[in-house]
Amino acid sequence: QAGDDDVPVADVLDLPTDLASMPRHPNIPAPAALFDPRPNSKGFTFGDRPALSKLARAMRNAPEAPTPKAFTKADVTAAMSRAAAAFPAWRDTAPAIRAAALRRAADLLERDRAALMSTLAREAGKTIDDGIAEVREAVDFLRYYADEAETLCASRTLPGPTGESNVWRARGRGVFVTVAPWNFPLAIFLGQTAAALAAGNAVVAKPAPQTPRIAARAVALLHEAGVPQDALILAPGGTEVGQALTADSHLAGVAFTGSTATAKAIARALAERDGAILPLIAETGGINAMIVDATALPEQVTGDVVLSAFRSAGQRCSASRILYVQEDVADRMLDMIAGAAATMRLGDPMDPATDIGPIIDDEALDRLKAHVAEHRPRFQAKAPEGRFMPPTIIELGRNEKLTKEVFGPVLHVKRWRANEIDRVLEEIAATGYGLTFGLHSRIDATIAHVTARVGAGNVYVNRNQIGAIVGSQPFGGRGMSGTGPKAGGPLYLQRFVEEVVVSTDT
Ligand code: NAD
Ligand code: ALA
Repeated sequence: QAGDDDVPVADVLDLPTDLASMPRHPNIPAPAALFDPRPNSKGFTFGDRPALSKLARAMRNAPEAPTPKAFTKADVTAAMSRAAAAFPAWRDTAPAIRAAALRRAADLLERDRAALMSTLAREAGKTIDDGIAEVREAVDFLRYYADEAETLCASRTLPGPTGESNVWRARGRGVFVTVAPWNFPLAIFLGQTAAALAAGNAVVAKPAPQTPRIAARAVALLHEAGVPQDALILAPGGTEVGQALTADSHLAGVAFTGSTATAKAIARALAERDGAILPLIAETGGINAMIVDATALPEQVTGDVVLSAFRSAGQRCSASRILYVQEDVADRMLDMIAGAAATMRLGDPMDPATDIGPIIDDEALDRLKAHVAEHRPRFQAKAPEGRFMPPTIIELGRNEKLTKEVFGPVLHVKRWRANEIDRVLEEIAATGYGLTFGLHSRIDATIAHVTARVGAGNVYVNRNQIGAIVGSQPFGGRGMSGTGPKAGGPLYLQRFVEEVVVSTDT
């Protein structure tokens, strides 16, 4: 094996430096990276400022997408009937043809990325960095599920007694309803929808009421790519539309991403229906913890905490909500984190210099301010006028607990003593959530001990805890954080199909 001295300097300098340059899953044939650092790739080189400015100009010049009209209950009934009528033909379409439509849609997303990012910025306050990552994730979902569905939906001849043939296949269940949150209004909305379509279901897709325009653009691109109009229908609206969809008699399953409370409301609604027992995939929130011990590298911790807690204005289900830092290093670590957070720029999401965009709406901002007002923050950065929440650090006392998901750039901190790591793990488990978890330690035994015991679905060691990559880091939690299977993982599509075995006496 070559020693460090044998590694060419150029290779060392080429090491991935950001999420966009991390390795892709082999199932994803072409990188969707806009900042792919490899030579001769399409898109930009990481840190290419002129290219960024050009992208920002293209975003500003893109015409705004029209707002689709919210559905009435009658619209819901009509859409579900149309989708039910379209279902058999889509189910019986060859898996390769369905997959080809999704791959075409991925190409169209790349073609339209500036317009999509423009809508993401205007409608959801997504910064350019977040917009790049979101378009890329949506593209990855389309390609990944296209590949996975071709494998899953190929019929298989199974062994059996002589004179008998046994053929197994997986096929779509019927009309799937997908219900999406506002915080990944393209990637998650499209991911759920693409999975259901790839598996051979018709889909009625409900975006969050805050983000219907980006959803309408996404559905239009899937139609342009060849998905039949009635096999995929957009159902804009809020809670009432969601309730009408999950009550409709044509429903065959629900893929939901959003809060734990809404997931439980949908589970109750499904349980109370007459007739079939329907599948529900629910991906929900978390009180995500990160543990830092005294051996961690302070500069690395600082960068990773700032990214995990404050990027996307903390409006990620995966974001760090509570940092458990060993008391020997706590003051120094917290001062460094606060120092780094103070340099973050809040403002116009279409400005390439902006690090943090606005909060989604006034109600969400009011909730965050009310939470902070109940405490005396250790640190709060400055925010400009407008719907902005500055990065904030709240230190909790030894007996204080964080019991709710605070969905914004508010990091809670608790100190722990050298022999207390198991008590910290118990406190994390007691929240009932289990989505993401981060650990910073340079002791192998600590890493092994903690990762073997922690109950989160996505565990990140000595790095940040956000930005799971489709196919490489299948994403999803346990307990109050979701039902699984993980999005962007090998088991996800299985919940969207029914299995049939045909045994024939030959
Ligand atoms: P939300 O639960 O308020 O809404 C989510 C969706 O459910 C929206 O489309 C909403 O209109 C719909 N809805 C609300 N009530 C409904 C009902 N009774 N029946 C059917 N549909 C209904 O969540 P949100 O505020 O849009 O999103 C933020 C939440 O989503 C956070 O808790 C976050 O952690 C979570 N989230 C989880 C993941 C994940 O992958 N685990 C990803 C992103 C966001
Ligand atoms: N999949 C998103 C992340 O990991 C939510 O940040």
